[in-house]
Amino acid sequence: MKQLLIVWHSRTGAARAMAEAAAQGAGSEAEVAARLARAAETQAEDLLAAAGLIFACPENLASMSGEMKEFFDRCYYPCLGRLSGRAYAALIAAGSDGEGAARQLGRIATGWRLKAICEPLIICTHAQTPEAILAEKRLGDAELTPCREIGAAMAAGLAMGVF
Ligand SMILES: Cc1cc2nc3c(=O)[nH]c(=O)nc-3n(C[C@H](O)[C@H](O)[C@H](O)COP(=O)(O)O)c2cc1C
Repeated sequence: MKQLLIVWHSRTGAARAMAEAAAQGAGSEAEVAARLARAAETQAEDLLAAAGLIFACPENLASMSGEMKEFFDRCYYPCLGRLSGRAYAALIAAGSDGEGAARQLGRIATGWRLKAICEPLIICTHAQTPEAILAEKRLGDAELTPCREIGAAMAAGLAMGVF
């Protein structure tokens, strides 16, 4: 059984919903076990045990959220040179941008020599006011469908040995 690890952090629910949708999409593949793991609770060993990786987090202040960055800071050197060639995808929740977090995540993935299965998926929630930004987010089907598709594509590729 190959493992797909979906590492997530979310402050107001959007990135978590994206991660859960990816796990749901991967669920139809019998030979792949999709596991959701909160960034703060994820260790280098979890990454090393996974055949495929999905990272989901919000953009905060033009970079990935602090908890997600701390996870990468903690795991970067223990995993360096030990994840080469593994497939990954990035899911970013943003208010209106998301490019900073996507770029940052891409550079870390390049350092680990991961193989992107698709462009980073950025979902903008269009929250502008402090109240809207701090409110719990609800994503609709239009936003969650591409997350499910990425999870399904990753799981299918892992099952077929394409990734
Ligand atoms: C402290 C803070 C900083 C933020 N900075 C950005 C930003 O730089 N760019 C952006 O597009 N959205 C920014 N946002 C908006 C969030 O990315 C957006 O609300 C996203 O949906 C949050 O995802 P979450 O619900 O998974 O926490 C920021 C939100 C917070 C709380």
